[in-house]
Amino acid sequence: MSETVLLVGGGGREHAIARALDDSPERAEFDLYACAGNRNPGIARLVDGFEALDTSDTDAVVAYAADVGASLAVIGPEKPLAEGVVDALEEAGVYAFGPKQADARIEVDKSFQREFMAENDVPGCPDFAVFEDMDAACEYIDEYDGDLAVKPAGLTGGKGVRVTGDQITKEEAKEYLRESDYEKVVLEERLVGEEFTIQAFVANGDVLITPAVQDHKRAYEGDEGPNTGGMGSYSDAGFQLPFMTELDSFEAMEIMKATVAGLDDYRGILYGQFMLTADGVKVVEFNARFGDPEAMNTLPVLETDFFEVVRAARDGDRLPELDFANKATVCKYAVPEGYPTDPKAGAKVQVDEDSAGDALLFYASVDERDDGIYTTTSRSFAVVGVADTIAEAEEIAEDALAVAGEEGLHMRHDIGTAELVQQRIDHVASLRDE
Ligand code: AMP
Ligand code: GLY
Repeated sequence: MSETVLLVGGGGREHAIARALDDSPERAEFDLYACAGNRNPGIARLVDGFEALDTSDTDAVVAYAADVGASLAVIGPEKPLAEGVVDALEEAGVYAFGPKQADARIEVDKSFQREFMAENDVPGCPDFAVFEDMDAACEYIDEYDGDLAVKPAGLTGGKGVRVTGDQITKEEAKEYLRESDYEKVVLEERLVGEEFTIQAFVANGDVLITPAVQDHKRAYEGDEGPNTGGMGSYSDAGFQLPFMTELDSFEAMEIMKATVAGLDDYRGILYGQFMLTADGVKVVEFNARFGDPEAMNTLPVLETDFFEVVRAARDGDRLPELDFANKATVCKYAVPEGYPTDPKAGAKVQVDEDSAGDALLFYASVDERDDGIYTTTSRSFAVVGVADTIAEAEEIAEDALAVAGEEGLHMRHDIGTAELVQQRIDHVASLRDE
């Protein structure tokens, strides 16, 4: 049967997915289409057709899927998942790789996420309480002995969480809640440690783990500044990060498996964000999709055919075993100057896939005009080095950023450097001594 694959989403993550699909040994056997709110030039060049549409509008996605005769869809971002695009496509006879709306709540509703963990005895859940009344939430903050993470229950693009004792004081946390129009918030124990991400391919009873990645959420070097969607990330050869043991990976994997077991019929990518603490591995959050940037670390080293994996998922088959190149990766995002608080759009992007040298270039929220590619107000593009060591991968990424220049752009040059990696190792060593 000839196949038509529809990719939904237009960020750096989806460019990485498009490239993984395009690299399939079976690429000649299927057509590839994509739709997204922005015309991602990297994706547009790889596909047989590209449609600009609002991917949160499930009717529009279903109509485009019918238009191109999609036999399979891959959903990148969380918003369409939250809107039930998988359910809507299935009703229209198109299998989509991604969780249905009910299961996507593991990301979309942070109160559901914690209550689910508590009810299903999923290990690694911090103390938490859920509030709809902001005055009651403020009282809880006053009475709570220790620091807290304040989390709006709904989606905020990774930018809604505030942590007391880290970014803000308890007084500022209360002010944040009182001034907000949040309908529901989760207050939870502040976890202290090192964060890491593990993503898994899930379908038909299989939960297949991919190598651990560490993202950098803060806007500025040295982990200063506001939270962002993620400024860059690295992974090591093998499955662990340099500060992790195999046991840490194992604990995280058990948590992922317990989560999938407790959900109805989860399929797609399950993203676990963990904190390695003095008391072991705890869950910061789950996402119902690949991470962005983490997908750009994981997919370039995936040697198994991504298309074969999603087709097996659709056909109800066991997923093929996943093989990964034994390589380290470093991904660095270039974002518009002033991002995320006061981003300035309109800088011309000076690097392209040819001039990026040994690095892979993934476009995100850019605007392609007749005379070139320009930044918008969201993350612009990412460069990824893949090499035997993190240090070599970091150098490759930096060489590509040097081609891009800094005009109108901001990037974190510290991501993946030996100094930062050593800091993480020392941090975890000090936690284990506690
Ligand atoms: P989230 O949107 O849930 O990924 O949260 C954004 C960031 O807030 C995470 O990457 C963590 O750095 C931080 N965070 C979330 N929950 C906690 C917690 N319980 N303790 C400490 N930091 C947290
Ligand atoms: N890298 C964080 C996220 O994708 O949510």
